Amino acid sequence: MQNNQVQIFDTTLRDGEQVPGCKLDTKQKLVIAERLDLLGVNVIEAGFPVSSPGDFNSVSEIAKIVKNASVCGLTRAVENDIKVAAEALKFAKHPRIHTGIGTSDSHIKYKFKSSRDAVIERAVKAVSYAKSFVEDIEFYAEDAGRTDNAYLAKVCEAVIKAGATVLNIPDTTGYCLPEEYGAKIKYLRENVKGIDNVILSCHCHNDLGMATANSISGVINGARQIECTINGIGERAGNTALEEVVMVLKQHPYLNLETSINTKLLYDTSIMVRESMGMPVQPNKAIVGANAFAHSSGIHQDGVIKNRETYEIMDPEDVGVTESAIVLTARSGRAALAYRAKKIGYELTKVQLDSAYKTFLETADKQKEVKDDDIHQIMKKVSESSKITMI
Ligand code: KIV
Ligand code: ZN
Repeated sequence: MQNNQVQIFDTTLRDGEQVPGCKLDTKQKLVIAERLDLLGVNVIEAGFPVSSPGDFNSVSEIAKIVKNASVCGLTRAVENDIKVAAEALKFAKHPRIHTGIGTSDSHIKYKFKSSRDAVIERAVKAVSYAKSFVEDIEFYAEDAGRTDNAYLAKVCEAVIKAGATVLNIPDTTGYCLPEEYGAKIKYLRENVKGIDNVILSCHCHNDLGMATANSISGVINGARQIECTINGIGERAGNTALEEVVMVLKQHPYLNLETSINTKLLYDTSIMVRESMGMPVQPNKAIVGANAFAHSSGIHQDGVIKNRETYEIMDPEDVGVTESAIVLTARSGRAALAYRAKKIGYELTKVQLDSAYKTFLETADKQKEVKDDDIHQIMKKVSESSKITMI
């Protein structure tokens, strides 16, 4: 019987930070690492220590300050990478080495000019060597999404025997369909000896916009860790967005899958990452985009004003957004105008509202959005013929 806790493995500081323009210095990384720990992530992938002295230093400093989460360093299946990662992680309370190798035929043939058997041998050697430094070893089968399942099962079995504690099944190229990715996880659960003693992990990229769906399909089929980044930043079209998978699981309690994330910190964390990386978030981004809880059409606004649940499937406060926004545009109705006017101090009679609405539409047709300053002007005009009650 599997437990229902899904571990959240954050790779904002590794897969996220490797994006052009997202580079952070050690000080900035420390601030984000502290925030991720507070947010409640289970693992922080702090970097790729062998890649540069700066990254080594960041991983080492993060390892010193993180109180609760495991701190993880990435390596290739190369002895020196592993030795350097172990050194960078030596002060971590809970160190994890993340090592691995490409397992798809295209990686084996073109990247390594090798064979399936030789790749298994390298994988086993890397895991055994990493095990000589730390107990917690995560193995990644790069491009697992396009790896033949029977061969992938053989790789997994071999690295479990060598001491891997977590098996990462990356859809490196973001190619899989949710059903296909879920079936891969299920296949491994049913065909790999020793699988019940390790955690299967989903690491999905978003090239076809399916990273979140694939990760959820993975956990429904038995994976118990999701690798993700704040705002979904990462190589090319990005990684699975942390805020999305966490809220999918929270909003679908019948799945009986939980995370330890304090969701009320999601919005602030998103802002912190976008500001320090200088990487803006699209307004229509799920959960943390500027429009995620904004309503602009009259029909929707009327519904939300009567009862938020008519057009919102989650409470904005649950993700740290103070309230839903009613944005006034030429598509807004009387209900929205009266609502906004009341918020800034005007109580309108029906006749006053009719008159104000006429002026409102004239203004709205001239500009994209009607702001509070415009409403004050509209109320001034209406007051000339009929005195408005101030509240
Ligand atoms: O996408 C990927 O396959 C990776 C591995 C290095 C884990 O980021
Ligand atoms: Zn990746």
